Amino acid sequence: MTSTIYYVASTLDGFIADQHHSLDWLLKQDIDQQGPMNYTDFIGEVGAVLMGASTYEWLLRHQTETGESWPYTQPSWVFTHRDQPAQPGADIRFTSAPVPEVHAEAVKAANGKDVWVVGGGDLAGQFADAGLLDELVVSYAPVTLGAGAPLLPRRLDLRLRETARNAAFIAARYDVVGIAGR
Ligand SMILES: NC(=O)c1ccc[n+]([C@@H]2O[C@H](COP(=O)([O-])OP(=O)(O)OC[C@H]3O[C@@H](n4cnc5c(N)ncnc54)[C@H](OP(=O)(O)O)[C@@H]3O)[C@@H](O)[C@H]2O)c1
Repeated sequence: MTSTIYYVASTLDGFIADQHHSLDWLLKQDIDQQGPMNYTDFIGEVGAVLMGASTYEWLLRHQTETGESWPYTQPSWVFTHRDQPAQPGADIRFTSAPVPEVHAEAVKAANGKDVWVVGGGDLAGQFADAGLLDELVVSYAPVTLGAGAPLLPRRLDLRLRETARNAAFIAARYDVVGIAGR
């Protein structure tokens, strides 16, 4: 059965990028690619990828800097109100349609696999608002930034299901119980 999962790395103080959309604080951390809650195992179960415009723009900048190609073979949706450069050969759909509509398309395309909400935090929050976010998997890096792009700017009740250490990170898996207080 498809789960919709926000799988993300965060600072200890709840930021997923710094104020300038840099991930330098993250990319320098030690990680065990075969360790608990690792990316390779996760992405193997993902059938559709969803992200916001800033995340897409970070990926484009990263490609320019590293020469890497588009990282996802899965159908991908980018939420944006603006024209964005396409990626040759990649299955990317730019959308500003309502979240439930896009989610239904993504679940269908995922064909039984999971749907990954890459970020940012407010987009993950929009899925939670619509009751469409099932799980959070957060890898906490041993760093604080004081400011930046927020992990998940909502009031939600979560149930902790799993914790583990992966090299420098504390990895934690949560079920989304619902909007706090409801
Ligand atoms: N640490 C990690 O694991 C991780 C994971 C993911 C992302 N990141 C980073 O975190 C940062 C996130 O940036 P962000 O907070 O700005 O979030 P974002 O979701 O990447 O981008 C936000 C933008 O997406 C568009 N958008 C969002 N919801 C929409 C909707 N319902 N319909 C249409 N467009 C919508 C809007 O852009 P427009 O209206 O301007 O088009 C909005 O300004 C980025 O730097 C990213 O690289 C880190």
